[in-house]
Amino acid sequence: MDRKFILTAFGYAVLGLALGIYMAASKNHGQHVTHAHFMLIGFLLSFIYGLCHKLWLNNSTSKLAIIQFYVHQIGSAVILIGLFLLYGQFVDLETIDPVLAVASITVFAGVILMKIEFVRCTRNT
Ligand code: HEM
Ligand code: HEM
Repeated sequence: MDRKFILTAFGYAVLGLALGIYMAASKNHGQHVTHAHFMLIGFLLSFIYGLCHKLWLNNSTSKLAIIQFYVHQIGSAVILIGLFLLYGQFVDLETIDPVLAVASITVFAGVILMKIEFVRCTRNT
């Protein structure tokens, strides 16, 4: 599970940094919220989950670990695509707001599931 998380983390880093470089080069910082969340939800949070699996969770492939992985990845992808469309002015806020709300709660659920995994796995250590 650590490999899956770290590989997706670097995937988000490539996209987020490319967006950062594009903003810097074009002197148009309109996508800075998208860039920030690509780096923080996409890269940083996925990377931290990967480290948790490597360091504490024994790379568990339990049902809970698999669910937590997809909950985080699906929530992140939807938030990041939604932010890109919103800040690129491809859609208006009213249209995308409910999508962003559900995706935010999904990412939040991923954090809670990771906490449950962590508590279960480290209880007797
Ligand atoms: C190639 C490297 C990078 C470039 C060219 C770049 C470029 C930018 C630019 C142009 C902005 C907008 C600044 C503004 O208008 O306020 C920005 C904001 C931001 N960047 Fe990057 N960035 C890079 C790497 C990173 C990394 C590695 C992270 C985090 C892991 C990061 C996190 C952020 C955050 C959180 C903001 C929002 C800051 C704020 O305005 O509150 N960036 N970046
Ligand atoms: C459920 C997931 C999240 C939601 C719904 C969310 C929401 C938001 C919102 C609404 C803003 C203000 C954007 C604006 O300037 O208009 C923001 C900014 C910011 N968030 Fe998040 N956030 C989430 C996750 C995270 C995470 C995991 C981190 C860090 C690890 C983070 C770090 C930041 C930072 C540094 C800023 C300021 C950057 C900026 O000016 O764009 N966020 N977030």
